[in-house]
Amino acid sequence: MTIPISVLQQFALGALRQCGVPAEPAAVAADVLVTTDTWGVFTHGTKNLRGYVRRLRAGGLRPEAQPTLVKEGPAWVQMDGNSGLAMPTSVEAMRRAIAKAKAVGIGFAGVRNSCHFGAAGYYAKLAADEGLIGVAMANDIPSVTVPGARGAVLGSNPLAFAVPHEAGRPILMDMATSTVAGGKIYAAATLGKLIPEGWLTDEAGLPTTDPNKLVQGGALTPMAGHKGYGIALLIEMLAGVLTGAATTWQVVSWSMHDPRLPTGHGAAFLALDIETLTDHSEFAERLRHVVQGIRSTPLAVGSERILVPGDLEWERRAAALAGGIEFPEDVLISLRGLADDLGVPPIG
Ligand SMILES: NC(=O)c1ccc[n+]([C@@H]2O[C@H](COP(=O)([O-])OP(=O)(O)OC[C@H]3O[C@@H](n4cnc5c(N)ncnc54)[C@H](O)[C@@H]3O)[C@@H](O)[C@H]2O)c1
Repeated sequence: MTIPISVLQQFALGALRQCGVPAEPAAVAADVLVTTDTWGVFTHGTKNLRGYVRRLRAGGLRPEAQPTLVKEGPAWVQMDGNSGLAMPTSVEAMRRAIAKAKAVGIGFAGVRNSCHFGAAGYYAKLAADEGLIGVAMANDIPSVTVPGARGAVLGSNPLAFAVPHEAGRPILMDMATSTVAGGKIYAAATLGKLIPEGWLTDEAGLPTTDPNKLVQGGALTPMAGHKGYGIALLIEMLAGVLTGAATTWQVVSWSMHDPRLPTGHGAAFLALDIETLTDHSEFAERLRHVVQGIRSTPLAVGSERILVPGDLEWERRAAALAGGIEFPEDVLISLRGLADDLGVPPIG
């Protein structure tokens, strides 16, 4: 089932407006979610709108909340999301990090009292669109184990970086710090499919291919074992501990827990102004050299090409812009459920 981008955008905007979210933040949130779908990251796009709407209606997300400045210095800000939608709050935070970076070379924005912000890559790309290097990260309720543990210890704490490269196609790495994002496990559970070994452990801390184990005392595995654990811990410290946000089990699940409760997520955004730190054209030339070197490396037997981070997102986006978004069934089920909740006609 293919849905035109404009139809999806209107649907998402209408859903948020119906919950009392003012026009501007609703448009920003709709753009974040629809853009994420155009990148083919279906686990973190409009599929999740139904859960956000449930929280907006129940009070755990405050429809009219606006982010406020807590403290600032020459190169940094600390902000409070005031339990509003995380997408407009995160865009505002990254915009402030970019402004600081343009003034002094580097900018950091920390956010507390936010919610689930979706795909980290959207915010990192905001910086790259303005010629800066962007980094975005957030914490989440524990769903990932660590070596030696039984059950979840840390969130799948996402990390993204975007670096200006070809026009409109920055180098973009946007990832969970678990082996795969939890959304892929839920999607498999919805579709009744088994998952590959290595993605999940069960309630005894042992490998399993049953996606239902995630909600039965199981946990995602950290990417690259103890190294992914270390990166997820760094994110927890920057996005959670440093910002004053909820940490690990203090974070309330945006999708599974009582929707009347604020979730308390934290996030952190970093921007580096290339022009201030070096000569922009020299940077671009040196980066082109690195990327060309990667792309021209001899292929492994059976391999058809070498990808640079972001290639997949930009290819999928070009296809979505040309012919609409082809959604998997689990997203369509969620969008139909949302239309039902809101009493509006389904779009797919
Ligand atoms: N808000 C949250 O709490 C939260 C938590 C976890 C994940 N997420 C989001 O989930 C999304 C999906 O995460 P994921 O880890 O499942 O993504 P993934 O593993 O599908 O992809 C991660 C990144 O790797 C790149 N990539 C894939 N194959 C590549 C290759 N062969 N060579 C070079 N680059 C390659 C992709 O383009 C992408 O940028 C992300 O948008 C992330 O921000 C959000």
